[in-house]
Amino acid sequence: MSTVHVIDHPLIQHKLTLMRNKETGCKDFRDLLEEISTLMAYEVTRNLPLEEIEIETPICKCKSKVITGKKLGIVPILRAGLGMVDGIVRLVPAAKVGHIGLYRDPQTLKPVEYYCKLPPDVEERELIIVDPMLATGGSSTAAIQFLKDRGCSSIKLMCLIGAPEGIRAVQEIHPDVDIYIAAIDERLNEHSYIVPGLGDAGDRLFGTK
Ligand code: PRP
Ligand code: URA
Repeated sequence: MSTVHVIDHPLIQHKLTLMRNKETGCKDFRDLLEEISTLMAYEVTRNLPLEEIEIETPICKCKSKVITGKKLGIVPILRAGLGMVDGIVRLVPAAKVGHIGLYRDPQTLKPVEYYCKLPPDVEERELIIVDPMLATGGSSTAAIQFLKDRGCSSIKLMCLIGAPEGIRAVQEIHPDVDIYIAAIDERLNEHSYIVPGLGDAGDRLFGTK
């Protein structure tokens, strides 16, 4: 069974409250999502392996640590996942970014794929899929499967808010994928929106409603 890491740092919780507020406009929503993504990236990358290299400070030669091992890949689920990319890449500028376009069909609630562009060596990378909302889990489980079908084996999922249903779905279908999340909300409503949630993340991010 995969692990669910709830990242409940006070700075993240404070910023998330601002994002949930319906009075928060597009620009602030975008800035807050980017800031929270940077803070969450600090935890998601906590276990990256290190190696010692020799360097020379102005004082003397010494051994010091640098990140080693697999290269990173960030994979936003379009559209709303885009809002989390810059906040992570700021911390790990060498990461490559792949895009998966999925939207949730409003009738069937099933994810529909419309775009995919991944780094050519994607299967060799340690991947972090990003999407602010984990509702039924349909989009995230499909994106994970999509990457596994392309040979990827090292995958983490980073979301802002999850419903218990979505978390269960990821854990059942992909028990090897750890979830990093800022809040687990109460439930889904009759339209499969997260309650209390923050509404439609893509629309609030891009001002499309
Ligand atoms: C939202 C959200 C997730 C998905 C979550 O995207 O960003 O991708 O819904 O719901 P699920 O867990 O039930 O699949 P949406 O389909 O609204 O597309 P958008 O980002 O383009 O607005
Ligand atoms: N997608 C969103 O953007 N918000 C929800 O609450 C559920 C799915």
